[in-house]
Amino acid sequence: MLTGADWWKKAVFYQIYPRSYMDSDGDGIGDLPGIIEKLDYLNDGTANSLGVDAIWFSPFFKSPEYDYGYDIADYCDIDPRFGTLEDFDRLVSEAHRRGIRVMLDLVVNHSSHEHPWFKESRSSRDNPRRDWYIWRDGVGPRNRPPNNWRNHFFGPAWTYDEHTEQYYLHSFLPQQPDLNWFNPQVRRAVDDVVRFWLDRGADGFRLDVAHVYCKDEQFRSNPPFYRRPKAAEKASIGDLSLPVYLFYLLGLPELQAKLYNQHHPETHRVLKEFRKTLDEYPEKTSIGEIVGQDPRVTASYYGTGNDELHMNFYFDLTHCRWKAGAFRRAVERWESLLPAEAWPAYTFSNHDIVRAISRFGRGSDSDARARLLAMLLLTLRGTPFIYYGEEIGMKELRLPRRLLRDPVGKKWYPFHRGRDGCRSPMQWKGGHAAGFTSGDPWLPIGPEAERRNVAFQDKDPRSLLNFYRRLIWLRKEQPALITGSYRSVVEGVPGDCYAYLREDKGKRLLVALNFAARRRKLCLPPTLEPSRLLISTAESRTAGEPGSPLILDSYEGCLLEL
Ligand code: GLC
Repeated sequence: MLTGADWWKKAVFYQIYPRSYMDSDGDGIGDLPGIIEKLDYLNDGTANSLGVDAIWFSPFFKSPEYDYGYDIADYCDIDPRFGTLEDFDRLVSEAHRRGIRVMLDLVVNHSSHEHPWFKESRSSRDNPRRDWYIWRDGVGPRNRPPNNWRNHFFGPAWTYDEHTEQYYLHSFLPQQPDLNWFNPQVRRAVDDVVRFWLDRGADGFRLDVAHVYCKDEQFRSNPPFYRRPKAAEKASIGDLSLPVYLFYLLGLPELQAKLYNQHHPETHRVLKEFRKTLDEYPEKTSIGEIVGQDPRVTASYYGTGNDELHMNFYFDLTHCRWKAGAFRRAVERWESLLPAEAWPAYTFSNHDIVRAISRFGRGSDSDARARLLAMLLLTLRGTPFIYYGEEIGMKELRLPRRLLRDPVGKKWYPFHRGRDGCRSPMQWKGGHAAGFTSGDPWLPIGPEAERRNVAFQDKDPRSLLNFYRRLIWLRKEQPALITGSYRSVVEGVPGDCYAYLREDKGKRLLVALNFAARRRKLCLPPTLEPSRLLISTAESRTAGEPGSPLILDSYEGCLLEL
């Protein structure tokens, strides 16, 4: 197991969506015993396994599943669909035994409406837990919602509760009421939850929508999207670029800049307290899901002097167009914005967005592009997060509207297909349900499962899976890829290629990626002449002399020693 206070800087993380990973009891839903069965696949200590060092688990806590686990009804228990607390303990010890750290999803902007805290809160206006959530009177003779805030999915952020005749706030579904982070009792209760899991062996947390925790105390309405933010407002929403304005236009009824219901300064104080708790325990880490249109605002969640989140997802990379320059500029921007001690974290896919291979892929080019992305992800300076199935090139599932399960697709976005497409069951082998379950899988199996599965690719040395394995194990032996510095190389590099140097204690590695569908020639300066090829995405290139000038095949990526 990676050890030391900064083990997470060296780790390759893997995200598991538990409902979809492995079903051990045939009910069609993945579970913890199923995951335990598959730990050897993830890391058995040898290069025959994927070699990941940590898993981030999407939530498996008790939940009525209006938002598939992101609505939690008991923070300190496992949902019976997934198993028991004993299964969790076994998962931690089996994972640790294989050198895999366990990272949990902390979903505390909101709870489920079925959480006992909310049940008490809504029971009467004078209940001691009333103020644990955010309640407000309606306004005007027609008893309208307190302000114009919209939830982050679709629709108003306020729901009227007939029983106590007030509105409550929910930044997501009405079944996900927002906790009141200005209430010190709420902070203490969540701190207890954090300690509960740390004491049970968890190695850290991914913080769900942490930028939404605290809201404007005066509950001011958000300005319309088309009004440019004033100087004082930029601190919380940043500057809105033209593309962002256009993006807002697509969500017609949601035409507002979320000025007053996210990125509140108090959230930084909450995160500093959270960090203090984590720091009381050895070797713990955290990563934030911080969404903002301005990377300067997202970068601020590292805190001052590294006192907030250890890591922060940089989602700008997921929005890039398929252009070498777009990826290079996005990385350079993040590198330049981060405080000196801040550590980047990169991902291309997760349970909320279209799988990268389907987003970036184009017909028969998809697999070559997936390899190139793998090389980029695993060689940048920062911690890589792989989404389950990405390593076998699992593609987005296309579902007819009547089969959608995700509330976002089902009822909230008339024009949105929801997020089921990236949540289809893991494809283990050919045949029934791709080996995920002996029963009926909760979501259909994704496309091309007869080929895009673990068993099939395991046998093929040229498969995407075996490429991931080789690259991950190679990464472990190259300190320059882990702690080394990052520098873009532009001299002699064609515009549709992206090249960078990773350097550590005199050891220099060059990553050269060709984003074009045609061969490209790199005329590198003599000081950057490669001496040895470590790995290429193209199986046709055999290790050895890379040649000068360096010719890259279509979509080829090379990792070279200088
Ligand atoms: C985060 C999660 C997403 C969830 C939302 C509300 O964005 O990643 O799946 O729906 O928060 O909890």
